[in-house]
Amino acid sequence: MHLFNIILSVSVFIVVQGDDDFLYDTFPEDFLWGTATSSYQIEGAWNVDGKGENIWDTFSHESGKVANNDTGDIACDSYNNYAEDIQLLKDLGVDFYRFSLSWARLLPTGRVDQPNQAGIDYYNTLINELLEEDIIPMVTLYHWDLPKDLYDQGGWENEEMVQIFNEYAIFAFELFGDRVKWWITFNEPYVFIVYGMGEGYHAPGLESPGEIIYTAAHTVLKAHAEAWHSYDELFRPTQNGNIGITLDTDWKEPLTDSPEDIEASERGMQFSLGWFANPIHGSGGYPAVMKEKIAEKSAQQGYEQSRLPEFTAEEEARILGTSDFFGLNHYSTAMVQGENTVAPEPSYLDDRDIITSVNETWIGCDFVYVVPWGLRNLLNWITNTYDRPNIYITENGMCDYNATLNDEHRVNYYRSYTNNVLKAIKLDGCDVRSYTAWSLLDNFEWAYGYDLRFGLHHVDFEDPARPRTPKASAEFIRQLVADNGFPEPEVKTQNLNQVKPKEFVRAKFRSGTQ
Ligand code: BGC
Repeated sequence: MHLFNIILSVSVFIVVQGDDDFLYDTFPEDFLWGTATSSYQIEGAWNVDGKGENIWDTFSHESGKVANNDTGDIACDSYNNYAEDIQLLKDLGVDFYRFSLSWARLLPTGRVDQPNQAGIDYYNTLINELLEEDIIPMVTLYHWDLPKDLYDQGGWENEEMVQIFNEYAIFAFELFGDRVKWWITFNEPYVFIVYGMGEGYHAPGLESPGEIIYTAAHTVLKAHAEAWHSYDELFRPTQNGNIGITLDTDWKEPLTDSPEDIEASERGMQFSLGWFANPIHGSGGYPAVMKEKIAEKSAQQGYEQSRLPEFTAEEEARILGTSDFFGLNHYSTAMVQGENTVAPEPSYLDDRDIITSVNETWIGCDFVYVVPWGLRNLLNWITNTYDRPNIYITENGMCDYNATLNDEHRVNYYRSYTNNVLKAIKLDGCDVRSYTAWSLLDNFEWAYGYDLRFGLHHVDFEDPARPRTPKASAEFIRQLVADNGFPEPEVKTQNLNQVKPKEFVRAKFRSGTQ
């Protein structure tokens, strides 16, 4: 990136976003850079080679569920174009690629007794070819595409899913764990539960914002813990990898510095991140403030017991500590203030007793407001709340509604957000170890279909070949990775020919030692 451009963009951010000074420095030597996708969003081939149907196939095929009635039937056709995707990753120079397994492609019914060889072959090839290119696979087991048969048997409301998911996880560890050293059980339980079973605008489209969401989350937390224990006991001794969960949250900034708003911000964080993080990374079980609020409101709404289920002491202990790292996805920030109401209809949003808003000076696109310091505050909050965990940022990115290749707004987003990650590490002492740009490609953006784009690479969805073209942001990420951050411009010029000692770092990450 040209110095003039850096200065220009930074100064724009200082004015527009109120961000403080840009930090010229590099990331720790063993910091890792990656980019991510998920199976349903890119693979296509929805009914090819023995793949079973999943809830996103069903949901997107129903009229009116997704913008323009778009579906993931073909998406980026990465089932056929994976080699091209690997080439793009290679061009970016990233250390790792985070992708997810399509459960129904591997196990069409969701159960391990009927595996699909073509699905196994597909992921074996993908993993092997990534490794050949020195790109480390980071594999998510569940990025929202539940096999339809399992949904028909009750989905995440069915307690049996704890064991069914565990069996699927063991199946994946057995097949791929000799080469995959980084596993993520669930991607963003908050989103697939609240949007899919609370609000209904994600698959499977249930609308139970005050009841099912809590029971489904309960099952998901137990399923995650069982998979972690299976890995820990049966596979870690020989495979020596890492397994964790990826949680997501916006940063919730207090609207004012009044004690009420500060408390509301903390409550909001506990209801979003703490819901899943406290049982795993925190003190165990749900956050006290969630238990208190939901019990209180449930009683006022005429329930005999709290809508938030309770873990037994044994379950609480089994879930606690079941993540080798703190996987974090983050996109945006909201301002938060307190309120105190009881809605007649139970709802997660009401249970929180907060009002969220955005600052009118913030620029953004759809649900992503560009508030780079929000990520730094969030990293500090996680560091303070969960005893300085090792944080792996597994998603962060910016959207737009147009197909421009000159995506300067995305470049600015990446530059300012990664710079705040750097500040969190260097100035605040947070232990952040990776950054993942979402996404490698423009792809099927869930309820937005192909309207909303997050890619470093443009994909032409009108063309059957789905050609990929790098955007300006791809070049920015390539340079960022090559520089491992933002070296002082003068220093960078002097050291142009210096080779970075990355090999050692890669070997460490690939072998799974942190
Ligand atoms: C999800 C991705 C999604 C992205 C942008 C995250 O919530 O993990 O699947 O595309 O955000 O909305």
